[in-house]
Amino acid sequence: MSRIGIIGAMELEVETLKKEMKVTRRVKKAGMEFNEGELNGAQVVVVRSGVGKVNAALCVQVLVDIFEVTHIINTGVAGSLNAKLDIGDILISKTALHHDVDATNFGYPIGEVPQLGIKEFPADEKMIELAKETCAKVLPELHTLVGRVVSGDQFIAEKAVKERLINVFQGDCCEMEGASIAHGAYLNDVPFVILRAISDKADDSAQMDYPTFEKAAAEHCAKLVKALVPNI
Ligand code: ADE
Repeated sequence: MSRIGIIGAMELEVETLKKEMKVTRRVKKAGMEFNEGELNGAQVVVVRSGVGKVNAALCVQVLVDIFEVTHIINTGVAGSLNAKLDIGDILISKTALHHDVDATNFGYPIGEVPQLGIKEFPADEKMIELAKETCAKVLPELHTLVGRVVSGDQFIAEKAVKERLINVFQGDCCEMEGASIAHGAYLNDVPFVILRAISDKADDSAQMDYPTFEKAAAEHCAKLVKALVPNI
């Protein structure tokens, strides 16, 4: 049977799932609380990683080593980099990459971690398809896009910075953990998908929009994750 690690960076992104699951064991590790149990009939471990790429990577390794998860889902909110993605809409990752990695001086493509041999981490095809089908069923009013997540240790709230992420990386949404989770999942050979609801447009309005829309956006993702897990 699958055992699915579900990572959200902030409490708001995991609180609904934690309320709705039956927790059988709580383990504290690396400053994080791992909630193991059952959600909608599926075996899951739900955890708030904390914000940013270091927290996210540590969280993946604990999920793999201690909980032996077979799949990883990253849920939460993101800034939109694609005009087709409005606030509240859903992005399902096809791939994820680091937008704050630059070893171009050594001949590596922008975004590629030296000596890794891969720049973009591909999400699991089956999980993408299931997420798409589930979205259409449980969130039919929302627009869903399968695309590229770009991640870095910055909140993007400036038009010029947003445009660079579009022009240089062709990102569809930006956030602060996805690529790191994808990177960790890749190194451990664990299938993953990133599911993000749009909370802001990553431009000069982002600082205002984010607190206004983050709760509703996070709820969209929680609904999707809950419906998705029994099918994985
Ligand atoms: N998460 C949600 N919105 C974001 C943004 N604009 N930049 C980075 N992470 C985000």
